Amino acid sequence: MLLTERRVLLRALLLLLGLKTVATEETSDDSPRMLSTPSNLNVIEGATVLLPCNVLNIERKVRIWKHLPSRILFSGSISVSRDSQIHLVNGSALRIDAITPRYAGEYVCLVSHHPALNVTHRIHVLVPPSVQPDPSNGKVIIRKGNPATLACNVSGIPQPVVTWTHEHEGIQSASLPSGVRQVLGGTQLQIASADVHHAGSYRCTAENDVGEPSSAVLVLTVLYAPELIVSPEWNHGDEGATVEFMCTCHSAPPSHILWMRTGQETPLQASDRVKLKHKLTPPTTTEAWIKLQRLRKEDLGSYTCLAKNSVGQSTKTVEISGLAEPVQLRGDQSSDSSFLLMWTAKSYSPIIEYQLKIRRYKSDDEWTDVMIPVSEESLQQSLFFSHSYNVTGLEPGTRYEAVLQAHNDFGWNRPSETLLFSAGDPPTTEPVVSSTYLPFYDADLDITDPTYLKQGSSASTPLPFQLVHILFLIGLSLL
Ligand SMILES: *[C@@H]1O[C@H](CO)[C@@H](O)[C@H](O)[C@H]1NC(C)=O
Ligand SMILES: *[C@@H]1O[C@H](CO)[C@@H](O)[C@H](O)[C@H]1NC(C)=O
Ligand SMILES: *[C@@H]1O[C@H](CO)[C@@H](O)[C@H](O)[C@H]1NC(C)=O
Ligand SMILES: *[C@@H]1O[C@H](CO)[C@@H](O)[C@H](O)[C@H]1NC(C)=O
Repeated sequence: MLLTERRVLLRALLLLLGLKTVATEETSDDSPRMLSTPSNLNVIEGATVLLPCNVLNIERKVRIWKHLPSRILFSGSISVSRDSQIHLVNGSALRIDAITPRYAGEYVCLVSHHPALNVTHRIHVLVPPSVQPDPSNGKVIIRKGNPATLACNVSGIPQPVVTWTHEHEGIQSASLPSGVRQVLGGTQLQIASADVHHAGSYRCTAENDVGEPSSAVLVLTVLYAPELIVSPEWNHGDEGATVEFMCTCHSAPPSHILWMRTGQETPLQASDRVKLKHKLTPPTTTEAWIKLQRLRKEDLGSYTCLAKNSVGQSTKTVEISGLAEPVQLRGDQSSDSSFLLMWTAKSYSPIIEYQLKIRRYKSDDEWTDVMIPVSEESLQQSLFFSHSYNVTGLEPGTRYEAVLQAHNDFGWNRPSETLLFSAGDPPTTEPVVSSTYLPFYDADLDITDPTYLKQGSSASTPLPFQLVHILFLIGLSLL
């Protein structure tokens, strides 16, 4: 009692003296005091948070809870905001249930008439990443050459980082195909002109270190007209032979494929002589195989592979020809001034003669043409015809190139690949292919025309080297 009386007396005295010592006065034992300390909280969306406001000696004064800047939540125990997710616990603490980003910010608890007596809690709401594909079904279908946009709508706090992977025909890649641009913070992919290699699935993954990463998949389908590859483009055949061709088609959607005689409208039907097989390898490959057995003379000629889909159609032509197959030139033996060329021709009808063209490699020399006749004995029926030719009078150390054609009842076949050789070379077994211009490949030139042959065989000009036709071998030795 004595103590209280003295303090009242002291206060009156101080007030009289006009001294502002109110603040220090308030810290005396029975004045209200804030016990809770401010906090800075990271709260994951959906969690519950408790904000304390413990005040010593609060007596009749009330606590006021505010969500800054100005939303009053509680005044004493009265809910001013009537927010069903915010509760007062034990008359002092604030509890927020199932928190969402709108509850982020600063909460202050202050004591009425003592606004300086307050505690502030700051809440950061963290939201795990979530992504939605756009378009929402994740499917983008576009024609080749058109622009395409693939997007992932990403949300999360803090702003998630987006990464993409691409999968094309089963091959997963962490880098995007060429021609794909990332825009809008990486959330959108733009393709100015969609191409076949852009097709496939694109997975976007969003991460922000809150909860698990989230991802979505977009599938891009690039529609395009059939693109065909035929193999072989040319088959040697004659009566009784069997030939096969494969037509491989890439297209989206997959194509319907037919084989037909070139120039005819009706597709070839399977029969005892014609075998047909189809194979679809999703998403884009179709193969159509044809086998023609026990060929007849009238089966020789060209065949067309026709492929159609909703975007367009395309054709490729193959040929069954009685001409001999192009030969492969080989070297067998060589000396300082000679080189023995060897080859085997495959032909259903007997080879009548060969034409060999030789010149210095990479020179503008005229080709020297050598007609190589075939003797009567070798005209016997056989599928393989072997022959050799000794090229003599060569300059040592000089490179030469040679090309050969074979002539049968159907005419001159297509030229062999170019063989490069020089006298003194160890014999080669593989032909060396050069990109030298091949005079035979001129489609407009009828090489079966005898006048052309006469022109080409520089009979009037002296030969740069002497060519001696030595021997020929019957093909059976190589079989
Ligand atoms: C509320 O008060 C009770 C009893 O005093 C105490 O056990 C409890 O921990 C308090 N709860 C909070 C959230 O302060
Ligand atoms: C809380 O108290 C401080 C002084 O301690 C004061 O500067 C501040 O303005 C008060 N806050 C509110 C919201 O009244
Ligand atoms: C993605 O976000 C954009 C822009 O905010 C909006 O227009 C679009 O509807 C959203 N798409 C989906 C699938 O949520
Ligand atoms: C090719 O001709 C040359 C020169 O006449 C000769 O030395 C060489 O032995 C011949 N080669 C063959 C395989 O007959």
